[in-house]
Amino acid sequence: MVDAINFDARSRLFVLRTDRSFYAMRVLAHGELVHVGFGAVAAATMALDNLDQYEEPNYVWENQGRRWEYPTFGDVTTHDVALTTVFPQTATALRDDEAAHLPVRDLRLRYVSHEISTDDEPGLAAQHGRSPVLPRPVLCITLRDIGYAFIARLYYRVTPELDIFERWVELENTTDMPVTLEALAFATVHLPTDRYELRRSAGAWGREFVGVTQELHQGVTPLRQRGLNTGHNANPCFLIHPKGQIGPENGTAYFGMMAFSGNWCLRFEVLPTDAVRIHGGYEDSHFAMTLNPSQTHRTPAFIFGVGEDGTNGASRRLHTWMHRYVLPQSAHGPLRPVLYNGWESVYFDMSMEKQLQLARTAAAMGVELFCVDDGWFSGRRSERAALGDWTVDRSIFPQGLTPLITEVRRLGMRFGLWVEPEMVNPDSDLYRTHPDWVLHFPGRPRTQMRHQLILDFGRRDVVEAIYAMLDTLLAENDITFFKWDMNRYVTEAGSAVEEEIWYRHVQGVYGIMDRLLKKYPRLDIQSCSGGGGRVDAGILNRCVQVWTSDNTDAMDRVYIQDGFSLFYPPGCMESWVTHERNHQTGRAVDLEVRFDVAMRGVLGIGTNIDALPAEELENYRRKIAFYKRIRHIIQGGELHRLAEAQNGGASVWQSVSADRRESVYSVVVVQAMQGHHLPFYRLRNLIPDAIYRLTDEWDHELGNFSGGQLMALGMPGDQRHGHFTCSVRSRTVLLAAV
Ligand code: GLA
Repeated sequence: MVDAINFDARSRLFVLRTDRSFYAMRVLAHGELVHVGFGAVAAATMALDNLDQYEEPNYVWENQGRRWEYPTFGDVTTHDVALTTVFPQTATALRDDEAAHLPVRDLRLRYVSHEISTDDEPGLAAQHGRSPVLPRPVLCITLRDIGYAFIARLYYRVTPELDIFERWVELENTTDMPVTLEALAFATVHLPTDRYELRRSAGAWGREFVGVTQELHQGVTPLRQRGLNTGHNANPCFLIHPKGQIGPENGTAYFGMMAFSGNWCLRFEVLPTDAVRIHGGYEDSHFAMTLNPSQTHRTPAFIFGVGEDGTNGASRRLHTWMHRYVLPQSAHGPLRPVLYNGWESVYFDMSMEKQLQLARTAAAMGVELFCVDDGWFSGRRSERAALGDWTVDRSIFPQGLTPLITEVRRLGMRFGLWVEPEMVNPDSDLYRTHPDWVLHFPGRPRTQMRHQLILDFGRRDVVEAIYAMLDTLLAENDITFFKWDMNRYVTEAGSAVEEEIWYRHVQGVYGIMDRLLKKYPRLDIQSCSGGGGRVDAGILNRCVQVWTSDNTDAMDRVYIQDGFSLFYPPGCMESWVTHERNHQTGRAVDLEVRFDVAMRGVLGIGTNIDALPAEELENYRRKIAFYKRIRHIIQGGELHRLAEAQNGGASVWQSVSADRRESVYSVVVVQAMQGHHLPFYRLRNLIPDAIYRLTDEWDHELGNFSGGQLMALGMPGDQRHGHFTCSVRSRTVLLAAV
């Protein structure tokens, strides 16, 4: 065991060490903090006393090409920076040789001191108190401007066993004037000079998380979201590897993500010198933040790491990190329940009788959590009206929700409810009373999307009113699950807090969630934003699970799941079985495939189950029972993606339990022509000399094979010789050591 955080006083060198990687920086003669190195090297092999020899020369003009640990506009003007500050006056009186060129856009941060502690809070992704706090070492380096009393504290938290670093910044204005921030990154991370490829999500509504790989060339490649949710088109995460040198289980992979659910930007910058750096923070094109005297701002966290074990190795580190340190612990236990959601069964045709009927059918097939979706609140007969009026519609539920909830509880299920707290329809009592509560610019159009406008969470009274409505709902009803939705993009972002709305909105959402979770410890929240538009490490610190996409077509969904699982764990990935003829795509997919795909994460049922024949209901019941036998492996196990859909052929996942004695194999064929032979996919990380019994949902034994055989020769069975092109398109198999 080596120390995670080291400081060598003689060379003024910081070295952060994890089990299999290191990160180093150094304080130069005049207090400049510069990057020294970052790489996947076993800690034990890293000497501390000579790393300063590797410091990059200051070779491109004065300071410009230097690997500043946190570059600011002032030290660097010709390349991208992490921070731009505007000082309205000078720190000192004007000298005779100075003209009043104000304001001053020049910041030069220099080392003051440092401190090593344990487990500080990562900015906006702060714990709300339910996750176990497993202490980890934290380094805080304090920097100060050469003239202004402007302080930056750079934080580094190290998770040694997972090779993960978290960085965030705290800025403090101790001058006597307001300071405007025009750009603010949570961190800048330098990579060793190399030719890199970037893998990132490039999706849209209905195809979230679908990835592309692109080469990084000289210049800046931005990934960004200008919005108040995390976004469908892009997600704040990345995987970078030396060009052409990555496999599922081997090759160097640099990976990272940001814990923020709004306006974010990742900039991948390659200098003319081929030096590579990543700046990650708030999207700055419409952004400004003012720090008044003695005010501080702490950013969300930028999470990153490096491994030598390919794309799957990067994913596994992030998955374990999420489970261990980020996802809230549910009061209902570590496994997510099988959920029923009636959205696609009834849409806005809500009635008490139908909900009762659905609940009884759902309970009989093994559902554990019954969630009533949109349409339950006053006047909500279509998407045109009532958002904002979060009281139960008495024409549908004359005695409120209690009789329904009582029946759901009697049937042995928990009760959940859909809400969309950030929104308002103009046709609502809330809007009629407070038309000024929405984001807008005076005298300008208020663009509606889905007939709705966005509430101004920059206003304290708005946030308080929304909190109070949700608080009342929870106080009056036995609700232990909210599906928290957010269904539109932002336009006309005019707010009481002006440009600060971009992060204040997210702060408002986090704040309401944190307060509710604290007051109602049995509450779990699901994050949804028109499907998978709000998925990131910030929201996942509050929400136990996320709605991955509105697209429930299993043949599309596998692509989405492959991309999602690159960064986020299957244990928070909701996936539903819906109708045979899919409502989004119109494609018919048989029940086997729909279940095999939905069972890869947190299983939900979204079918109009009342309309199904008895035989089909029995199939649902049996498959749900099978899922319950394997879900501890799927939700909590270690994932190996053996093949990805976007490479053609099949998407093949293998989950392995912590003791390696159980595993789940899941294959879904996405593309197979007659004569196209799929390989026997070789399994990973089994115990070589253990004998595994292979069974299916019927508990039919498919054979006994040694772990060594399954890893060397692959998974036997009917995926070869074209069978999959005809009747069998997917398969889920349980492997258990005998
Ligand atoms: C969004 C969600 C759906 C459903 C509807 C209800 O589109 O993604 O799952 O909840 O809203 O209006």
